[in-house]
Amino acid sequence: MTDFRKSTVYQIYPRSFYDTNGDGFGDLKGVTAKLDYIKELGVDYIWMTPFFVSPQYDNGYDVEDYYNIDPRYGTMEDFEELSREAQKRGIKLMLDMVFNHTSSNHEWFQKALAGDERYKNYYIFKKGKEDGSAPTNWESKFGGSAWEYVPEMDEYYLHLFHVKQPDLNWDNPKVRKEVQKVVRFWMSKGVKGFRFDVVNLISKDKFEDDFEGDGRRFYTDGPNVHQYLKELNAESFGQDAEIITVGEMSSTSMENCFEYAGEDSHELSMVFSFHHLKVDFMGNEKWVLVPTDFQKLKDILFSWQIGMAKNHAWNAVFWCNHDQPRLVSRFGDEGKYWKKSAKMLATIIHGLRGTPYIYQGEEIGMTNTDFTDISQFRDVESLNHYEILQQKGLSKEDAFRIIQIHSRDNGRTPMQWNGENYGGFTKGMPWIGVNENYTKINAQSQLHDETSIFNYYKKLVALRKELDIIAYGDIRPLDVRHPSIIAYERIYGEEKMLVVCNFYKTEVVWDSGMDLKGFETLLGNYSEQKIEESKISLKPYEAMMLYRKR
Ligand code: GLC
Ligand code: CA
Repeated sequence: MTDFRKSTVYQIYPRSFYDTNGDGFGDLKGVTAKLDYIKELGVDYIWMTPFFVSPQYDNGYDVEDYYNIDPRYGTMEDFEELSREAQKRGIKLMLDMVFNHTSSNHEWFQKALAGDERYKNYYIFKKGKEDGSAPTNWESKFGGSAWEYVPEMDEYYLHLFHVKQPDLNWDNPKVRKEVQKVVRFWMSKGVKGFRFDVVNLISKDKFEDDFEGDGRRFYTDGPNVHQYLKELNAESFGQDAEIITVGEMSSTSMENCFEYAGEDSHELSMVFSFHHLKVDFMGNEKWVLVPTDFQKLKDILFSWQIGMAKNHAWNAVFWCNHDQPRLVSRFGDEGKYWKKSAKMLATIIHGLRGTPYIYQGEEIGMTNTDFTDISQFRDVESLNHYEILQQKGLSKEDAFRIIQIHSRDNGRTPMQWNGENYGGFTKGMPWIGVNENYTKINAQSQLHDETSIFNYYKKLVALRKELDIIAYGDIRPLDVRHPSIIAYERIYGEEKMLVVCNFYKTEVVWDSGMDLKGFETLLGNYSEQKIEESKISLKPYEAMMLYRKR
């Protein structure tokens, strides 16, 4: 049985991965076609974002039918073929379950709107305030009110995300039974992993105005969320010890994650938390331009590492996904130190305690989009906020600059396979623009280059399998206040591993304060490491993993 603590997960955003029929839209056959590439990287699981029937207002996170595949992505036969071919290569599939909300096209919601009381109770409908305004002042995460008025009913429904994504009412046991059934259906198809979308938002109880924030403190990590997860576990995936699960935890607290991902809590295998990625935000506000707070990044990463370990809980560790800008553009250097900085950032994550996730294109150092006009963007969240920023008084140019930096579309441009048209993603017209730098940054050119970013990731994935210390060792942060170094030590019995990274381009000599005799280099992004007694000299964006048996 695969031990998820030694495993690495590769995330695929199918619509931007590989298109096999020339409609400009990636498909399931495209994932099958690229399995050998994924196998080469050495990962154990593929997490695929939703490909279920959906009107695609939120690129498939608005599910209309949980049991069928959207024709844009292919057919159930395509899925079964993918599953078989993956299995042949020792790769397991992880599906994305969106249960906080459905699409407004879902038949449950359609029946609710038609006045069927049973289905109305599947969602969260409320009367407005006395003056007719929305039940609370909560804001949707995609901008605007979180409530939509339905004139025929004279009631509002809750949508924490898009207006076409009504929130499900988990307090209704029938809803909980429905979602358990969906999970069991995909288990019966041989699926061995599940990711649960924004799953800490499913228990809402206090419907009060929020005068301090956007409402999230009233619906995040709600009172029954642990009970509902334990129930889902017991009634579905918990019945197969081979299945691994990860919960996407929106604005969560660490204390709650001890339980969501606790060794004995019978909820989930691990959690995604996002606090370490809000270090270029202003508080929770992402639509601003502020420099990365490096100290905050370290403080958050390490406090989660230590807190979760102490409480026997497991982290998913990651920089990237389909909701995040590209890593090198965000925290590294797209220019002269593109390769060095991409490898350095990878080293930080892959030495940590937790299960690492690699997002398609990260392993070849893909960068943010080169879009110059708002019409090139596709994401609803970005388009909504482009308008909202201007309503707040920003100029078109300033609003656009913010979208360019923070848009989720940065992570959603097509995978760059080779130097052919559209980076080899499609023979048709891609649904979203391909970055013109595909001639320089593409998978084909990296596969056989020993010094490529791809081959560096491959080594990181292999090391976690080889060395128990990476999977099971304790972690101790080092010199946390240093202005440019991020360093930590892993400890396992008598073994030690040191991870030392220069986060910036200025050379620096770092005094580790320990005797470095006997340490050998496991991996580094320069061909030689300069180590003298307790000191390590680090070149621009230099990273290394050192190891000593005893
Ligand atoms: C999660 C998904 C994101 C989606 C949202 C609503 O955050 O990762 O892509 O828009 O949930 O389902
Ligand atoms: Ca296609």
